[in-house]
Amino acid sequence: MPLKYAEFCTGVGGFRLGIEQSGVEAELVYANEIDNNCEKTYIANFGRKFDSKDIFDIQPDRLPDFDMFCSGFPCQPFSAAGKELGFNDERGTVFFKLLSLIEVKKPKVVFLENVPNLIRHDKGNTYKVITDSLRMRGYTLSAKILDSSYFGVPQSRSRIYIVALRSDAYGNKTIDFTEKRTGRTAFRPFIIQGDYSIPITKRWEEYIDYYLGKKPIEEMSFEVPKSRRSLERIATNCDLEDCVFQVRSSGVRALSIDAPLPTLTVLNSGGGAHIPVLSKERRHLSINEMKRIMGFPDSFDFTAVSRTDAAKQLANAVCPPVISSIIQDIDKAIN
Ligand SMILES: C[S@@+](CC[C@H](N)C(=O)[O-])C[C@H]1O[C@@H](n2cnc3c(N)ncnc32)[C@H](O)[C@@H]1O
Repeated sequence: MPLKYAEFCTGVGGFRLGIEQSGVEAELVYANEIDNNCEKTYIANFGRKFDSKDIFDIQPDRLPDFDMFCSGFPCQPFSAAGKELGFNDERGTVFFKLLSLIEVKKPKVVFLENVPNLIRHDKGNTYKVITDSLRMRGYTLSAKILDSSYFGVPQSRSRIYIVALRSDAYGNKTIDFTEKRTGRTAFRPFIIQGDYSIPITKRWEEYIDYYLGKKPIEEMSFEVPKSRRSLERIATNCDLEDCVFQVRSSGVRALSIDAPLPTLTVLNSGGGAHIPVLSKERRHLSINEMKRIMGFPDSFDFTAVSRTDAAKQLANAVCPPVISSIIQDIDKAIN
């Protein structure tokens, strides 16, 4: 019997991709997401089975039955009032809506993903609320912070994964998370040579010459801001002639392509100048390379949305190979 699952805060379907790649027999019965652009990408890749609306408008008794509940939900602070009221009063918080769906549907498995800072968020209160409220509803919890670069993905992206198993179905079973499926994955083999789909500006050309010591500051055609006058950080063993320049609000960093890239965020995925630059080919990373950095297959289609939206959707997504690994771990624990 396939494991029936539903996904909330689906984005572009990173959980679904990972589950489908895992080899574990599973069937998606429901997916919800509010963002219309995510829906466009989702439909281009998976077809329908997507309920496009605000999660707060979902009536749990109208949902199909499922065994597993998946969500990479946005992390919002919970108010002090919520803490005292046993949390049920926080109707505006996505997590509490998820909890109310879990309460009604009673899935045997709950699989959540979030940023590792969830543990420290609001001085530890947010994490405590999440874990306590699942335990109070009869679940045994397992949680682990995993780094995608140990799963064949050329990006160091740490995320917390929480798996809750319903105690009346699985006793006190916990998940033995596989922490590494590969060694640290370097970016170099994932570069698509000559992919000039996002060219750099004249200003970026000058910056590259400047950082490579080929152009003195006096010859720059614009005033170089203080925060850009020297590289903020140069990675160990980094060859500046063949590296990635990453723009941050604090400055520009030179990254080695013989290591995983740092976490792709919405800031550096954005529309233009903030997308990382390859110094050798003098161009921005392409959407196809960003797919690879997130562990998405080359065939995944983002052409239904703008480049900016595609990059944002990728930066918000889960890395499917990590999901795939965890589903195998879950399967091992429950079968
Ligand atoms: C961190 S992203 C999850 C991305 C997803 N795991 C993926 O692989 O693409 C969180 C998602 O929650 C969605 N979201 C936020 N508030 C929502 C709401 N009220 N109803 C439905 N979806 C919501 C956002 O639009 C966003 O796509």
